[in-house]
Amino acid sequence: MWSRMLDWLACPVCHSPLRLESFEESHIELAPEHISLAKQRNLLDDEFSRHIASGALLCDGCRVLYPVLYGLPVLVPYPTPIYAEFAAMFADRLREFAAYRPPALEPVPGERFVMDSFSSEWIGYNYDGVIWDLSYEDHEKRFLAELGPAVIAHGHGGLFVEIGCGIGVTSFFATKNMQCDALGVDLSLAVLQASRHFKTDPFLHFVQGSAFYLPIRRSLASVMYSHGVLHHTYSTAKSLASIAQHCREGGWLYVWLYGSGSQKGSAARRMAYLLEEGLRPIIARNLRSLPSRAALAAMAYGYLLVNALHRLRDTAVEKYDYEKALHAARDRFTPLYAHRQDFAEVASWLTALGFEDIEEVDWRTMPTANQDNYRRNTGVRGRRSS
Ligand SMILES: C[S@@+](CC[C@H](N)C(=O)[O-])C[C@H]1O[C@@H](n2cnc3c(N)ncnc32)[C@H](O)[C@@H]1O
Ligand SMILES: [Zn+2]
Repeated sequence: MWSRMLDWLACPVCHSPLRLESFEESHIELAPEHISLAKQRNLLDDEFSRHIASGALLCDGCRVLYPVLYGLPVLVPYPTPIYAEFAAMFADRLREFAAYRPPALEPVPGERFVMDSFSSEWIGYNYDGVIWDLSYEDHEKRFLAELGPAVIAHGHGGLFVEIGCGIGVTSFFATKNMQCDALGVDLSLAVLQASRHFKTDPFLHFVQGSAFYLPIRRSLASVMYSHGVLHHTYSTAKSLASIAQHCREGGWLYVWLYGSGSQKGSAARRMAYLLEEGLRPIIARNLRSLPSRAALAAMAYGYLLVNALHRLRDTAVEKYDYEKALHAARDRFTPLYAHRQDFAEVASWLTALGFEDIEEVDWRTMPTANQDNYRRNTGVRGRRSS
C-alpha cells in the first residue's frame, strides 16, 4: 500500500482512524507521467513514493490490529487465512502489539463463501486485454458510458472508490480518465492480484474489505462505482445502504445490478434463466464436488457455443477459449446469492438514502458487444444530496 492511503482508511468496525506501524517498506521508482501528474496535483513530496510491503494497521478505538501483507491492507472485520499467514510470519514483531487483538466480528451471511468462490475464480488471470467476452477497449467505453461525461468531469482529481473491484482493471480506467486516485475494495483475493499487478501506479490503491464494513472514512468518495457485486450479497438493499454512506455530499454513486430482463425475453432466455435458478444453489453448496465440477465443465461448452453465436452477430464480442468459458460459467452458476432488481426499486432505495438526479443508464450508449447484456440488467446513477 502507498503510505498516503492511510488518509482514507478507517477501522471497519468502529470507524476510528488507523495508525500504521511499518515492518517492510521501500520507495518505488515512479514513471515520468506519474511524477508529472503528482506535480500537477501538488502531491509530490517524500511520502508520495513510500510503499508499505508489510506492517500493522492499529485501531486505538477498539484495540484491533489489521495486517498489511504482500503490499495489501487486509481490513476485513473477522480473521481470514491471510491473517493467519501474517501472524505466523511476524510472530516476533507482533509481541510488541500484545494490547491489540485480531478482528472478531461474525461475517454477514455468505461472505465466507464469497471469499472462497470469487478468490478462486480469478486465480491465474493474466491481464491479457480481455475480461469475460469484452476487450479492455470496450470495457473502458462501457465504463465511460456508465458514468457519463458529467460524472467523469466531477470525478476529475478526486477519489474514486470501487466496491467489488475484482482484478482492478476498472479502477485503472478511472485513474486514466479522471486523473484521480482510485481505491478498489474487494472481499476476495482477486484484490491481491490487482495490487500486485498495479503495484507501480501511485494513483491506484487496493484493500481487502467487505461492502458491509467498508474500511474507509464516511462521506469520502467523489465517485463510487460498483458493477456486478451487490446482487451477490445476502441483501442488495442493505449492501447499497452500507456503501452509500461513503459517498460524499454532491458526489455520485453508480451501481449495476442484475435486472429482471432474463426472466422475460425469448423462450430460450427464459429456459436459461430457469436452468440457472435451479442449478445455482445446488452447485454453490457443493462447489468442490465432482458432479458440480462436471456440470460446470459441461456448461463451459454451452458458453463456447453461445459465444460463437454472439460472434456471428457482432465480431466485437471477444472469442472465448475454454478457460474463459469456464470462468463465465463459474460466475453465473456458483454465487450463493444472485438477486434481481429493476430500476424503480433501486431508485426508491437511493431516494430514501438521500440521493437525487437518479437516472437509469441507457443500454444503447454501451459498446455493441455489451448492449444485449446491459439491456437485461439495471445500471443506475445518482448524486448524494444529504
Ligand atoms: C462478478 S464479480 C465482478 C467483478 C468486477 N466488478 C467486474 O465487473 O468484473 C463480483 C465481485 O464482487 C466481490 N464481492 C462479492 N461480495 C462482496 C462483499 N460483500 N464485499 C466486497 N466485495 C464483494 C467478489 O469478490 C467479486 O470480485
Ligand atoms: Zn476500531
